[in-house]
Order: sequence, then structure tokens, then C-alpha cells
Amino acid sequence: MRMGKYEMGRALGEGHFGKVRLARHADTGAAFAIKILDRHRILAMKIDDQIKREIATMKLLKHPNVVRLHEVSASKTKIYMVLEYVNGGELFDKIALKGKLSEKEGRKLFQQLMDAVSYCHEKGVYHRDLKPENVLVDAKGNIKVSDFGLSTLPQNQRKDGLLHTTCGSPNYIAPEVLLNRGYDGSLSDIWSCGVILYVMLTGNLPFDDQNTVVLYQKILKGDARIPKWLAPGAQDILRKILDPNPVTRLDMTGIRAHDWFKQDYTPALPFDDDEDNNIGDGNLHMTEHQDIESSPAISQINAFQLIGMSSCLDLSGFFEKEDVSERKIRFVSNYSPTSLFEKIESVATEKGFQVQKNSGKLKVIQVCNEPANPRGHGTLLISAEVFLSH
Ligand code: ADE
Repeated sequence: MRMGKYEMGRALGEGHFGKVRLARHADTGAAFAIKILDRHRILAMKIDDQIKREIATMKLLKHPNVVRLHEVSASKTKIYMVLEYVNGGELFDKIALKGKLSEKEGRKLFQQLMDAVSYCHEKGVYHRDLKPENVLVDAKGNIKVSDFGLSTLPQNQRKDGLLHTTCGSPNYIAPEVLLNRGYDGSLSDIWSCGVILYVMLTGNLPFDDQNTVVLYQKILKGDARIPKWLAPGAQDILRKILDPNPVTRLDMTGIRAHDWFKQDYTPALPFDDDEDNNIGDGNLHMTEHQDIESSPAISQINAFQLIGMSSCLDLSGFFEKEDVSERKIRFVSNYSPTSLFEKIESVATEKGFQVQKNSGKLKVIQVCNEPANPRGHGTLLISAEVFLSH
């Protein structure tokens, strides 16, 4: 199998939107990891523009602790992201193998994680799904964070459609993200890094429960049990990062100023910006690549995927009195999409709204055409989307 100059090899991982494969450059023999995204799925979710923006942003990230995106191209049905190949596996496996890491190693990796995360934050890019599965380790034992900027994509979804869905493993999600009340991307990434640090140093999760609702309650309370056998500095930084209140949580400046963090710290220097400028312009190019993978477009998703794709971050209903999200209301119905759309259309038309329908989506609009309102302020727009479950 070939994609342009790359010979495709074994699968390295699989996500909801496609696979990651090992590849070799035919001329140089250099190894790359190619992420293959399924355009049908992206189009079906109407996130194509967002994905393009995110990929363009990812191309700007050039840091020794961030997986580099070298090149992007596309065929009619796939998008290929040519990534730096990181050959030491996932941080998750490294921890699992050893049980836990030593304080010294945990601190070194945490320092690298902070360097990667603060570099991306300074560029205005937030990860939103930091967890040991997308922190990779290179041959020298240094970390490389993958998928920075690709927050639209559900990552690492396994076949069961559960745990590893959009929000990934919920154990790493900050309380304010769970509450879906609007949050500072930087502080919520820092929370996830705090969970990763806890896992590195103890081999356990700070918040865990088989029952997802109980797990969410534990995260919201934020009372992680910090083992007394940890060094006092490590206990202190963990307590201050795993603060459920983002306002009082240790921020990047606070972490960098913390005595425990400062020990044996050698900051990583970002790469030169003009290095590697022979590679693309950040846009997606349609090339003549043959489709090397074929998977059916999704017209149907199962209920778990649906929860994973859209509602797992919006748990306000669990914790607030009958208070549904202001922006989105989701419900389950036994009626067919056709009859649901017919019903919405007839009610909306009866109430004097305009109705627009296109590809599985229905928009209800009431335009305020006052001359004093040239920009359409006051326009009401409601869109309804129906997802089929198996
Ligand atoms: N799995 C996912 N992305 C990868 C990468 N860049 N290198 C190695 N394995 C990966």
C-alpha cells in the first residue's frame, strides 16, 4: 500500500475517524506515523471546516515535546496526516509496565509535559483530551504529546464505543469541563496534567469509579487521596493542581515557580520556526492518491457513540435541578427522522417561522428584518439534527 511517497505499514492505533499507520518514506526510508481520517465521517458530522482549521493550527506547532505534523494531503475519501513517528509507545504502557515511575523520572516527564503544554497554550492551542494514552515516549525516554489541537476528533475510541470516546477516558477531565459552564482551556489542560502526574507517581488514578456518575461526583468534589509516602513537595503540587476550583488552581506560572517543579529542570527550547519550511502551507491539498483504506461512511451511529460525540461533556442535568444546557437539548425518540422533521416543520411553520432543510439537518429561522438591524441581530435560529442509533 502506498500513499504518495510513503509506503504504508502496520496499524499503530485506531480511532473513531480512522487509523494511524506506520509508514516509510520511499526515498529516505525514514519512518512516519500517518493518521488517516475518513472524510465521510467528518462531513457527516459537519466538522470539516473545523478539522481543516485544527490541522492548519497543528502545523504551526514545532516543539521537541509535541508530535510534529509534517505534511497533510487528501484523496477523495481520506485525509492523511503525516506525523513524526514516536517509537517508545504510550506513557500509559510505560507506567503500566513499571507500576509507577520514580519521583525523579515522574518530575522529568511532568516538566516536559508542562513545556509542551505551555508552548501550545502560548500559541492559543489547547489539547482538551490530555491523558497518558496520547502522551507518547521516544527512544530516549522523552515525551511527545500527540493530537494537540485536534480537539474536534474523538480520539482512541475502542471497538466497544465506550470509555475512549470523544472525551476519552473521563478520569482526566477537569470538573469545570464536566459542568460545561464555559472554561479556561489552559487551566483544564493543567488539571489533566495533574491527573497524569498523580498516575505517574502513584500508579493509580486520583478519581476512579466503575459507575460514571459516581466518578463525575468524585471529580467535582476533587478530594483526591494524596498518599503520605509521596515526597512533601510532590504532595503539595498535586494538591494545588487537583483543586476543583479553577480560580484557585495552580496555573502555569505557579507550577513553574513551585520548588518541587524547579528541581533538576532544564527547559526545552522550541524549534526554529523557519525549519522545515519545505513542507506544505497549512492547507489541505487534494491529491491524486488512491484510496488505500476503505471503510463505509457512517450513516448510523450507536447510542454510546452518540453520547461520546456530543453529550458526554454536558452533564449539567446530573448535577443541577432540571437545568438543561442553554445551548443544546438532546432527547431520545422512537419516531423516525422523517416524522420528527415533519412534526418540527409543521409546528414551526404554524408559529410563523421559516424552515430550511438540508442533508439530515433542519433549521428554523425567524429573521428580524428591521432596517435598523442590517446585521440580522435579533435573528432566531434553531437547528435540529437527528442521529440514528442501532
Ligand atoms: N500512535 C499514534 N500516533 C503515533 C505516532 N506519532 N507515533 C507512534 N505511534 C503513534
